[in-house]
Amino acid sequence: MASSLSHPSIIIFLSRFLIILSLLSFAESQSFVGVNYGQVADNLPAPEATVRLLQSTTVGKLRLYAPDPAILKALGNSGVGIVIGAANGEIPGLASDPAAAAQWINANVLPYYPASNITLITVGNEVMTSGDGNLVSKLVPAMRNVQTALSSASLGGKIKVSTVHSMAVLSQSDPPSSGSFNPTLVNTLTQMLAFLKDNKTPFTINPYPYFAYQSDPRPETLAFCLFQPNAGRVDSGNGKLYTNMFDAQVDAVHSALSSLGYEEMEIVVAETGWPSGGDPNEVGPSVENARSYNGNLIAHLKSLVGTPLMPGKSVDTYIFALYDENLKPGPTSERSFGLFKPDLTMSYDVGLSKSSQQTPSTSPTAPVTPAPETASQWCVPKAGVADAQLQANLDYACGQGIDCGAIQAGGACFDPNTLASHAAFAMNLYFQKLGRNPWNCDFSQSATITSQNPSYNACIYPGGST
Ligand SMILES: *[C@@H]1O[C@H](CO)[C@@H](O)[C@H](O)[C@H]1NC(C)=O
Repeated sequence: MASSLSHPSIIIFLSRFLIILSLLSFAESQSFVGVNYGQVADNLPAPEATVRLLQSTTVGKLRLYAPDPAILKALGNSGVGIVIGAANGEIPGLASDPAAAAQWINANVLPYYPASNITLITVGNEVMTSGDGNLVSKLVPAMRNVQTALSSASLGGKIKVSTVHSMAVLSQSDPPSSGSFNPTLVNTLTQMLAFLKDNKTPFTINPYPYFAYQSDPRPETLAFCLFQPNAGRVDSGNGKLYTNMFDAQVDAVHSALSSLGYEEMEIVVAETGWPSGGDPNEVGPSVENARSYNGNLIAHLKSLVGTPLMPGKSVDTYIFALYDENLKPGPTSERSFGLFKPDLTMSYDVGLSKSSQQTPSTSPTAPVTPAPETASQWCVPKAGVADAQLQANLDYACGQGIDCGAIQAGGACFDPNTLASHAAFAMNLYFQKLGRNPWNCDFSQSATITSQNPSYNACIYPGGST
């Protein structure tokens, strides 16, 4: 689990809305959404049941903290991309002896590959920020030995080797453009980044807006962390507008990589999530917040809007976690990160199930199924919503890459030129584009779904279907 990101001291409230005239192309598949399969539990389903569960969803990737033979075998011929981890305790052995690395590959990869679609081996978890200098010094040599062992087995390039970092590798992350690595880690990171670049391997990080909210538990920070309508934050370094914490954290990592000359390096989010339950004294856990965070995150990734510094693509993201883990120590929240309960029911619906998909997927692991015919629906403001909320909704929706041209001067929906009318149009467009899920028509509980078509004259409100 990761640490927090320090919160900004300045929040600029924008009075005018930002119009991004960009063509929004939807992902044809959600193969960039993965989940973490944490197994600190004594009540998890059988591996076959887990594989069936995954195949009923659009989740295309699974990250295992250790190479569990039963689940690796069960994932055979499923197409699911698999990340397997080598434990921190294995690093000294892997670093000191190339034969140990070859043995690790022999035992944990060769028996399963290629039927089981192993794509990445992560050597260690959050080692750089573990405070264990000995382990840190052995990390890159261990990664090199594992890479060499893969190459010897003719798997170089097919299976990559990386390691997973907490956000604490950054000493500065706010504003995102100022992101930089902790100077005491730069020496090791410089060697690691050269290795990753040579092997065309992504930099893998665990951003948790949840922890950022805990360190700054104000309502506006919660909205920013949950991808809900908010005033946004302008990066004082480059003037870019951030509408959510996830993008801010990912871009801070991008800036840190850029500062060391690795602007082109791909970033993978190995963990992010939000707990659906917690102790009474914990700030932030709830079913509503977890559903908002994960649901809106998935919609954000699916939109391919990208981040302000990396527009037009989505980072591969592994949500933490597949199941609640009943044996995790610590506060209740630690045992409550699961998208699913061990009885295979959803903790809450984030729109991952294949049958709830609005757009057919074309990925090989997700056969095309026709979207069910559903009645047209529109998202409109509730009666009596305050202007400030309408403005925030308008700013937010138009800042998420939808085309707000129709409500600009000259557009078919410019008249009546009122805040209520413009906000309604933008909120509905946002709802339609993000998948017409109930949580896409929330806007801090200021919106509602209707079956009455709000279109008028030449101003057409998209209604979704038929
Ligand atoms: C293996 O997983 C990766 C990542 O999800 C995917 O791109 C690739 O198509 C998968 N390969 C097979 C053979 O299914």
